[in-house]
Amino acid sequence: MLAENTHPWLLALTAVIPTVYASRRGSTSECSPVSFDIVATAENAILSPSYDPSNETSIINFINAMARGEVNPVVGSQNISGSFVINGIYCKPTKKVKKKRNALQILVHGITYNSSMWGGYHFGDRYNWHAYANGEGYHTLAIDRLGHGLNSKALDPHNVIQPMLQVEIYKELIQSIRFNTAANSLRKRFSNIIWVDKKVGHSYGSQIALPLARLCPNLTSALILTGWSSTTNLSEVQKFNLASASTLYPSRFPGLDKGYLAMADEALRAKMFYYGAYDPAIPAFDFANQDIVTIGEFAANAGPFGIPPAAYNKPVMVITGVEDGVFCAQPGVAARECEELLEKTRTDMFPGVPGRKYEYFAPRNTGHDLTLHYSARETFRRAHGFLDKYF
Ligand SMILES: *[C@@H]1O[C@H](CO)[C@@H](O)[C@H](O)[C@H]1NC(C)=O
Ligand SMILES: *[C@@H]1O[C@H](CO)[C@@H](O)[C@H](O)[C@H]1NC(C)=O
Ligand SMILES: *[C@@H]1O[C@H](CO)[C@@H](O)[C@H](O)[C@H]1NC(C)=O
Ligand SMILES: *[C@@H]1O[C@H](CO)[C@@H](O)[C@H](O)[C@H]1NC(C)=O
Ligand SMILES: *[C@@H]1O[C@H](CO)[C@@H](O)[C@H](O)[C@H]1NC(C)=O
Repeated sequence: MLAENTHPWLLALTAVIPTVYASRRGSTSECSPVSFDIVATAENAILSPSYDPSNETSIINFINAMARGEVNPVVGSQNISGSFVINGIYCKPTKKVKKKRNALQILVHGITYNSSMWGGYHFGDRYNWHAYANGEGYHTLAIDRLGHGLNSKALDPHNVIQPMLQVEIYKELIQSIRFNTAANSLRKRFSNIIWVDKKVGHSYGSQIALPLARLCPNLTSALILTGWSSTTNLSEVQKFNLASASTLYPSRFPGLDKGYLAMADEALRAKMFYYGAYDPAIPAFDFANQDIVTIGEFAANAGPFGIPPAAYNKPVMVITGVEDGVFCAQPGVAARECEELLEKTRTDMFPGVPGRKYEYFAPRNTGHDLTLHYSARETFRRAHGFLDKYF
């Protein structure tokens, strides 16, 4: 069950991606698909037997009960090992870029998304993190999280695709890039790894950056955490309104295990992720093409995942839209309230980071999917202004 099957679409899509990201004349980016073979072991959670993994209604009832705090989703732990293929898009600065830096940004998407979100889909470079970062001399690697994007959807979404295994896999991935071992398909060694994370959900989403920084405080050289704060409005998280991905998108995900989920309500998804100033074509595209989240990502994400990485002392920047309903203010509330939550995030989560190495930015008129709003370039500019002090 753990063996990674070759994804039937892999070859076809691999051929398509370079054209989507083709470097144009005068472009500052050159992008190509990459994949890494990673061997990892993790102590994953054993989920409560109180739901039927083959019954969609039972899965959804279980998740809703969990979000209301009515069931304890985890009953034990078990070691899971395997060999996993992690796909991604690697972009480097072209010759045109004067200032090159020996620093790689690893861009990590949130649940129901995949690596393509960092390129801004087909909506232009104004939403393209790679293009901005490459122009500033950084290399970028947007990875597909386990079970998402081009990675195998043949893995067990209950027992295997869980946050702890993901932490172990990304740890191995970073090590292979830092020490240039066999699994490093970039064939280039980077001593500075900047982890850029797009979050959704705290207790019931997926938390990778915090356990990674806690368990391996020296692995990354900086963190940029977007769409996140230490304060989660759980009543918002209950609005996920999930269904099995195979029910919602039968032609894209035929026969997929029912534990692979997606958001069922287009209007609710748009309301949760977008606010204020954005192109209305984006949430429509985003809903029709959304990726998945697994029940294991939701259920096995409590307990140790929220523990602050107290020993982490590298630069940290948090960027969250003022109107991000889950992590900042509710629409209509003053921007200052959001900024206070982002200030509090340092004391709550990063006690080891000196004050001068912690910064935040709360773009106005912006919801959760901040790189897909009109403020995206201001977000890119602030993030790179911060990084410029260190790399
Ligand atoms: C699926 O689960 C629901 C809720 O627990 C239950 O009412 C229904 O009978 C189950 N269906 C099957 C086919 O077992
Ligand atoms: C998982 O493996 C580690 C290392 O071998 C061991 O210490 C731990 O007890 C194992 N956990 C479980 C739940 O079997
Ligand atoms: C990745 O996400 C994009 C945008 O949501 C979607 O169009 C594409 O089909 C996804 N890729 C895969 C392999 O599912
Ligand atoms: C991290 O690096 C620092 C300084 O090089 C060292 O003192 C510390 O022990 C390291 N921490 C871990 C967990 O390896
Ligand atoms: C949490 O979100 C709900 C709407 O879902 C809102 O009514 C409530 O005021 C929010 N709580 C806080 C503390 O902002």
